[in-house]
Amino acid sequence: MRLKANTRAPFLGATALTLATSALSTNPGANLQAIITLPDLPTPPQPEPIEVTELPLPPVTLDEREGSCTAEINSRGTGCIGQRPNLQSGSFLPDDKHVLASLNFTGASVSSIYYGPQLIIVKTDGTTFSNGDPWKCLTCGVPEGQQLGRSPTMDYPQAFSDGKRALFGTNILDCGPWQLASEDCTAERTHIYPIRWNVQADGSGEGGNIRELRRHPDDVHLGFNAMVISGGTIGQFGYFARLQFNPVPASGIPLTPRYDLVNVTTLFNPGSLSPVSVKGSNIFVNPQAITVGELRGFSGRGNEVTYLGYPAESCNIDVFGVDLTTGAVRRLTSNPEYVDPVDISPDDQWSVVMDTRGSGRQLFLAAMRGVPPIVDLVITAITASVRNNGQRRFFQPWLLDRHGDRGSYSGQKINAAGGGSLGSVNDPQWNGMADPKWSHDGTAIVYWQQMTHFPACGGANPLPCPKSTEPGGRIDRIMIARLTSRTTVPQKPVAPISDTVPWGLPYIPGSELPSPKPLPPGSYTLIGKVSGFATVSLIAGAGSTFISTVAVTYQDFSDDGENTINGSEEVTVSYKSPTLNHADWFSNLTSTGANFSTKITSPGGFHVDINIAKNIFTANGTLTTTVDGVAYLQPDNYT
Ligand SMILES: *[C@@H]1O[C@H](CO)[C@@H](O)[C@H](O)[C@H]1NC(C)=O
Ligand SMILES: *[C@@H]1O[C@H](CO)[C@@H](O)[C@H](O)[C@H]1NC(C)=O
Ligand SMILES: *[C@@H]1O[C@H](CO)[C@@H](O)[C@H](O)[C@H]1NC(C)=O
Ligand SMILES: *[C@@H]1O[C@H](CO)[C@@H](O)[C@H](O)[C@H]1NC(C)=O
Ligand SMILES: *[C@@H]1O[C@H](CO)[C@@H](O)[C@H](O)[C@H]1NC(C)=O
Ligand SMILES: *[C@@H]1O[C@H](CO)[C@@H](O)[C@H](O)[C@H]1NC(C)=O
Repeated sequence: MRLKANTRAPFLGATALTLATSALSTNPGANLQAIITLPDLPTPPQPEPIEVTELPLPPVTLDEREGSCTAEINSRGTGCIGQRPNLQSGSFLPDDKHVLASLNFTGASVSSIYYGPQLIIVKTDGTTFSNGDPWKCLTCGVPEGQQLGRSPTMDYPQAFSDGKRALFGTNILDCGPWQLASEDCTAERTHIYPIRWNVQADGSGEGGNIRELRRHPDDVHLGFNAMVISGGTIGQFGYFARLQFNPVPASGIPLTPRYDLVNVTTLFNPGSLSPVSVKGSNIFVNPQAITVGELRGFSGRGNEVTYLGYPAESCNIDVFGVDLTTGAVRRLTSNPEYVDPVDISPDDQWSVVMDTRGSGRQLFLAAMRGVPPIVDLVITAITASVRNNGQRRFFQPWLLDRHGDRGSYSGQKINAAGGGSLGSVNDPQWNGMADPKWSHDGTAIVYWQQMTHFPACGGANPLPCPKSTEPGGRIDRIMIARLTSRTTVPQKPVAPISDTVPWGLPYIPGSELPSPKPLPPGSYTLIGKVSGFATVSLIAGAGSTFISTVAVTYQDFSDDGENTINGSEEVTVSYKSPTLNHADWFSNLTSTGANFSTKITSPGGFHVDINIAKNIFTANGTLTTTVDGVAYLQPDNYT
């Protein structure tokens, strides 16, 4: 299950009002200058030369039965993969000449060590290991006694900066004093340790379920996410912790050498400012609120944690960074399309994102700019889940400078060149996946893609399935993008940062998870920062304290002085199960100013069902956003 961005629970909090909010509430105009005066941002960069090539992978066997990976297919006897190898590429090793990847070996004879899900390293410089392979398996054949308590998870492989250890899934692979890429690092010299998050006061039992782990660049801290069921639906919290090796645990499962997560901080604090808050009859949008919906990683120097956060504009899903010490929030992207995988360059000056920008997927929701994120109190899980069609992502990799989208600059598409033909570097049927990763010297980016496949094409789906042109018809591939005009930027190692995140909530094993207080139902006024106002009704569901309906009416409302919003919008969300969301949506918005836009639902409204764990869009009725005469339509059902 890959759940993304169901951030409802952490976002529902109307919490203690901080100083910042009360300042705004007593004098809404007081902060006006600070908010609307843009800092002098540097001129956006010109497009730069980028060369994209593909990295080698083990050979493919079409027949995946035992023994089908013959010497004819792989003469070195080092294994085969299938057409769907369950690939995921990860980070570079510190030498920048190797990248980590996990994939599923198949077709081996019973006695072979090249079987099942494994972690490999792949050469990026066109050379081979001494046996002639351009890749090497790190986990194949590791003795059972050296991987006790290992978890079966394999995702997000990331190398430590010593080059001797790698994080994958909820495990750490350790080659002792040997470099992972050296011939000295053999299976006999390799250990695999599980990572355990203690969630019991007495330290007993299994650890908590953790997902989406990200190594901090100081090598001693880790970021991760954990799901929570709240108000009948799923949400999640992000966490920051220290990794502590525990050679002889005294309690908890597994009772084997392991890494414990200690000094854990929940990156949510019910005492902090909420993205939307109320005071008296006023409602406020607080862009400076920290809203770690899903932790996505750390900045290059490790000062910031990156996350998918509460929208800054309605229906527009972005990534943000927050300083681990000061709590200062930075919006990394603002394009109306959807983004979530992000990697910031080692020198913090660039980011690479996987984004639906260019596909038009999300524009029916978000192309009208400057609409405050109010209906988003209930609709975010749905708007975020439109981004995929099941396994098909609409992501491509984009390069952005530190200051992000501005004016006519919305980054540079990394794989823009290539002719667009079947299987080319820019074939839109090859969808970007998570995560893209920077090289340590800042001159290359590695990313991986998956070709659209059934049922996201073929069968009842009107999109015909493309035929893979990769060796053996493989549908996964790893690409390397070289920024050929750049020179190496050497970086000092990142010194260990503090265990303490002052704005977070120290996690005490066994304690109740913090529960965001729901906003009180009622009618409120939202004052535009530049002009006008909106009246907002928050209505709780029958027998519930959670808001299920949000209705907003705008009158000459403008926060940015560029877009003035008029009209009304009303959204009601219900949950058929914790993951099956339904919305009844009525919009009739007009925006004037920079553009003339409308956001309008069909008579009778727009009704959408999405299982946020499956991402299959089905709707009755339409929601259409039109900007300067160009209409952006929702996807067809099931596509
Ligand atoms: C690996 O491939 C085998 C077929 O050889 C398949 O049974 C298994 O489910 C695959 N595992 C994963 C995690 O993809
Ligand atoms: C961090 O965790 C260790 C081990 O549990 C503990 O001894 C130490 O006091 C903790 N430090 C802080 C700042 O909480
Ligand atoms: C927006 O609504 C206000 C109040 O109803 C009206 O006076 C104004 O003309 C409208 N603006 C536009 C551009 O339609
Ligand atoms: C949308 O709002 C406009 C302006 O208030 C109104 O003329 C129009 O009838 C509305 N359309 C619908 C479908 O309600
Ligand atoms: C809105 O208008 C600006 C300025 O005229 C233009 O650059 C931009 O492309 C327009 N936006 C859309 C989505 O058409
Ligand atoms: C669309 O309408 C059909 C027929 O009334 C109904 O069965 C289905 O649940 C509706 N779907 C949504 C998303 O509202």
